[in-house]
Amino acid sequence: MASTDARESAVASSDTMAAGVGSPTRARIEARTLRQDRWWLYPAATFTVFMAFVVYATIRAFMGSHYYSAPYLSPFYSPCLGDCVEGSSDFGQPFDWWPLSAALIILIFPLGFRLTCYYYRKAYYRSFWLSPPACAVAEPHRGYTGETRFPLIVQNIHRWFWYAAVLVWAVLTYDAVLAFRDENGDWGHMGLGTVLMVVNVVLLGLYTFGCHSCRHITGGRLRHFSKHPVRYRLWTWVSKLNAQHAQYAWYSLFSVALVDAYIWMLAANVFDDPRFF
Ligand code: FES
Repeated sequence: MASTDARESAVASSDTMAAGVGSPTRARIEARTLRQDRWWLYPAATFTVFMAFVVYATIRAFMGSHYYSAPYLSPFYSPCLGDCVEGSSDFGQPFDWWPLSAALIILIFPLGFRLTCYYYRKAYYRSFWLSPPACAVAEPHRGYTGETRFPLIVQNIHRWFWYAAVLVWAVLTYDAVLAFRDENGDWGHMGLGTVLMVVNVVLLGLYTFGCHSCRHITGGRLRHFSKHPVRYRLWTWVSKLNAQHAQYAWYSLFSVALVDAYIWMLAANVFDDPRFF
């Protein structure tokens, strides 16, 4: 029994090592990397921007105030399902008993979607876990098991988060349409806030519908594209977006934070919303 355990552990260990730079089939190179360029720039920048966003989003999510300035509702709080300020709940307040910030009820979905996104995974594996920090740069960890085991196997939940993200995107699009009303509910208004909210949902749409899971949903598991022309057409569109997925991931991250910050400033009366008509 003991020898079986020892054998299994040896096999597991060799599986782990076989995938890393310590593999017996790899060249023995003492230097961590032979790259001469500034390979550290990308992971360093990613780490800095991500950390800034995480800190900002955490503060705003727990703040529980300054998220609505008619007719603008912050994307961090939409749909507002908790005990929200008057005018901000277009879908009722089923969680009005919730004692904390209303953002915490909803943020798990867009946050879960981004955290499990294939592109973000690459970005934060490199910048936070240095696994590896860049191509052709050895990682500091001794073992490597990829996403085949707990906890990282949970990343597979991404395809389900995609459905939730589409719902949230639809709600934010609805909010952007409502932003064409003025504070009295009359249509025909357009302020800088309206423009920012529309740009935000466009960027979020480009990001959400360029998702790798969306690509699989539209064109996956088909034997012959010729027999599914509609799905083939959708798949080609999604594939085009998918090629720019990293850019849309960043743009939409910035736009969400920008819209939230803008509405925060309006709600705090720091400045007035410039109106175009
Ligand atoms: Fe990035 Fe799905 S892979 S959102």
